Amino acid sequence: MLDRNHVITAKDLSRADIETVLDRAAAIERDPPERERHAGRLLGLCFFEPSTRTRMSFEAAIKRLGGDALDMGPVDSSSATKGESLADTVRVIAGYADALVLRHPSEGAATMASEFVDVPLLNAGDGAGQHPTQTLLDLYTMRENAGGLSDLTVGIMGDLKYGRTVHSLAYALTKFDARQHFVSPESLRLPRSVRYDLHEAGARIREHDDLDAVLDELEVLYVTRIQRERFPDENEYRQVAGEYRIDAATMERAREECVVMHPLPRVDEIAPDVDATPHAKYFEQAHNGVPVRTALLDLLLDDADSGGGEETVDAADDGEDGRKP
Ligand code: NCD
Repeated sequence: MLDRNHVITAKDLSRADIETVLDRAAAIERDPPERERHAGRLLGLCFFEPSTRTRMSFEAAIKRLGGDALDMGPVDSSSATKGESLADTVRVIAGYADALVLRHPSEGAATMASEFVDVPLLNAGDGAGQHPTQTLLDLYTMRENAGGLSDLTVGIMGDLKYGRTVHSLAYALTKFDARQHFVSPESLRLPRSVRYDLHEAGARIREHDDLDAVLDELEVLYVTRIQRERFPDENEYRQVAGEYRIDAATMERAREECVVMHPLPRVDEIAPDVDATPHAKYFEQAHNGVPVRTALLDLLLDDADSGGGEETVDAADDGEDGRKP
């Protein structure tokens, strides 16, 4: 899979790659792998930003495969505080581990870091850039709950500007030819570069400032948190905070089968009264992080065992033309 087996952006994942990972995840859920499958393999966790789900589900995944996690720990107790560069830090940790997971506040950090390591590097979020492994579990959840991935109509609402899960998901949904409706305030619309890539790839997208304009068409409503930590100005954040919130009454106007998702953590954009409705799939979505990341690590570590290269996950490639992001 991918250039030297790194997973940096959802653009790098072909439709066949995605299906291979999701199929493996489904097989793992049906029939969990032997605990010794990747005994002794170590996964380096380098988180320069807060994380609960991503860090813990990667740790659970490597442990389920018989391996273990090596966690760099909090940034303020790492050598980054002494002024060490990211390149040096990942180069050293790559020497201790069989694969690395990196989360960093700077967009492009994972691409840069991948130049310095020989082991697979998985981007667990680079600033407002990308979060491709979240996308894999998002697609898995859609596939399980919305009757497959073809011909979907998906609404993506909230912080489309800074939300890296949105950027990765939009690229991936384009490969499945989904109709994508982006709902946000004017100030938080998709970045121009992402919109350009989507247009280039022939994506079917529309942008709205009002959820009600599309709610009754949606099979999936993907809600996101306003990324407060990425706003250069707290006042700008306050102007949009609290907008674009859904509750159980909102969902009464939606299709009965509409699936509500959220990468979590939520702040107040989904009222707790949605949790008890059949629409709510966001906790299931978070739990899917374990089988999906187990599948991804299993494939990447298998690939490394077999001498590497781009073959393993690509083996199922059905000749995707590579045009879509
Ligand atoms: C997301 C992230 O870090 O981008 N969280 C996650 O990994 N599930 C979403 C967010 O923080 O809003």
